[in-house]
Amino acid sequence: MSEFSLEEVNKVKDWNNMTDIEKKHVPAIEAPDKVKAGEAFDVLIEVGKYMKHPNELNHWINWIGLWIDKRPVAFVNLYPTVSEPVVRFRIKIDSVGKKKIVAREFCNLHGVWQNEKEIGVE
Ligand SMILES: [Fe+2]
Repeated sequence: MSEFSLEEVNKVKDWNNMTDIEKKHVPAIEAPDKVKAGEAFDVLIEVGKYMKHPNELNHWINWIGLWIDKRPVAFVNLYPTVSEPVVRFRIKIDSVGKKKIVAREFCNLHGVWQNEKEIGVE
């Protein structure tokens, strides 16, 4: 079995035993555990936090995007060698309840990778 898929969204299979390809691709999420509805907060997304990913003309992180549950809220294109795959989005959520922050990135050679963090909106 291949370590990654170009046809499906890749995720870390075991956080206590990450493979090198998982360490290089999973987008790390830094965000508060709880926020207030309608108040802006920051979400930091970092690819390569656990192991540096190449940033070369033929191998780089092409984009990083953010969804709240299934709703798209932010997206950025990155260009090889000149931009590092670390972005900070300032967002707000208007409705209360448990939400899922979903970060995805796309590597031109290794496909789409996803990470998630649950957040409580009061
Ligand atoms: Fe890659």
